Amino acid sequence: MNFGATNSEIEKRIDELVDIIQNEHQKINAIKAADPDKRIIQSSILEEYKVLRDKPIFYDYLASGRGNGVFVELVDGSVKYDLIGAIGVYLLGHSHPLYTRAHLEAATKDVIMCGNLQPYTEAFKTSEAILSAVKGSKLEHFWFAGSGSFANDTALKMVWQKKAPNYKLIAFEKCFAGRSVATQDITANDGYREDMPTKIDVERVPHFDQNDPENSISKTIDALNAVWAKAPGKFCAMMMEVVQGEGGFIYGTKEWYHAVCKWAQEKEIYVWFDEVQTFGRTHKLFAHQMFELGEYADIVTIGKALQGCGVLFSKELSPRPGLIAGTFNGSVAGLNAATKTINFLQDGGFYGDNGRIAAIEKKIIGELNVLKSNSCSKKIGHIGGVGTMLSFEVGDAGGEVSKSFIKALFENGVISFTAGRNPTRIRFLVPVTITDKQIDDIMTIVEKTIHEVVS
Ligand SMILES: Cc1ncc(COP(=O)(O)O)c(C=O)c1O
Repeated sequence: MNFGATNSEIEKRIDELVDIIQNEHQKINAIKAADPDKRIIQSSILEEYKVLRDKPIFYDYLASGRGNGVFVELVDGSVKYDLIGAIGVYLLGHSHPLYTRAHLEAATKDVIMCGNLQPYTEAFKTSEAILSAVKGSKLEHFWFAGSGSFANDTALKMVWQKKAPNYKLIAFEKCFAGRSVATQDITANDGYREDMPTKIDVERVPHFDQNDPENSISKTIDALNAVWAKAPGKFCAMMMEVVQGEGGFIYGTKEWYHAVCKWAQEKEIYVWFDEVQTFGRTHKLFAHQMFELGEYADIVTIGKALQGCGVLFSKELSPRPGLIAGTFNGSVAGLNAATKTINFLQDGGFYGDNGRIAAIEKKIIGELNVLKSNSCSKKIGHIGGVGTMLSFEVGDAGGEVSKSFIKALFENGVISFTAGRNPTRIRFLVPVTITDKQIDDIMTIVEKTIHEVVS
């Protein structure tokens, strides 16, 4: 990034501070139980915070601000393995040197937030880095948004404007698109929009069926043809999570994606990939690239691991003046970290069949399978996922047992979350900086917890 206030002394001090701060974080390198005195402090803050939010916090969790890779320290003094990373935000883990540097460099600038009307070089550089990763595709433009949901709102407005008055949208069963007024209607779980008026006309079709792979193409295409037959020509786009996050890490075969995207292309509706959760996490920077779907992508939304959010879109989808705007591009530190994250991920040996992400996937899935075949037989069900999005089922894969399991896993030192309903899966969003030894240690805790919770 370009420094704001700068001279050689400031640059030298930033280098020194990065080292000093990193040294402190690196002292956190093993899980640890809470300190009883600090536990009281944490509990009382959480009690008060619960009142302010009018909603309890799922875990007894209040981050201290110290962490190291997969380790996070809480205010109660405990240290845990963080395998959920704020549902996908901490792809590089905690206190990555890149984050420390991004903050310190941003501190030399004259503002905190980067505005749309008066942009900073960070916004330009992040846009450039994102778009150079999809060079040669139709995605030639990028627009920032304040959240994944708002990126999706923006994308929806773009496809609506181009296809007006054909506003119907195709989405997928079990999909999650966010919680804005628009995206709550796209999200499949109707429990998330109780007593809300319905605003968006959405038809949902089945995603890939992991229990019936052979018939998956025909099941989806038949469903697509059926919704089309109800309202031919009335649709604007097909919106797809390449790997369904909230749905339970459901993903298809290359053949399934190609058949489904081809169908949309033939019907002349836009293909929209929601990569808010998948960005950075599969065997390529974008999950749609992993399945070679670049030729179909008209519009792609990203967020979370980027440390910013936004929409990549084709020239054809350029909105007319007035449709999209907004105050912020993001914080200067966030945008600085976003550019650095893209460069780090692309240059760090993470992607491809022999990249670190594929190796992490293989090791975690392999170790879960060993547990399933040995000490945890009949206690672990489906094991799957892709890249750093991995999941498995425990017991009968019901909501109760899965929730009990993740709560016990938390107490034993590993933070995870659930995904999906019927079945509910245990969801890991693993940081790319995890080591093999840490995975071994985590699996020992998983095994112990399964025996504690699943009878
Ligand atoms: C696939 C997908 N789309 C959209 C969103 C919404 O993003 P945000 O929570 O940043 O609004 C999420 C968040 O979990 C997501 O996983």
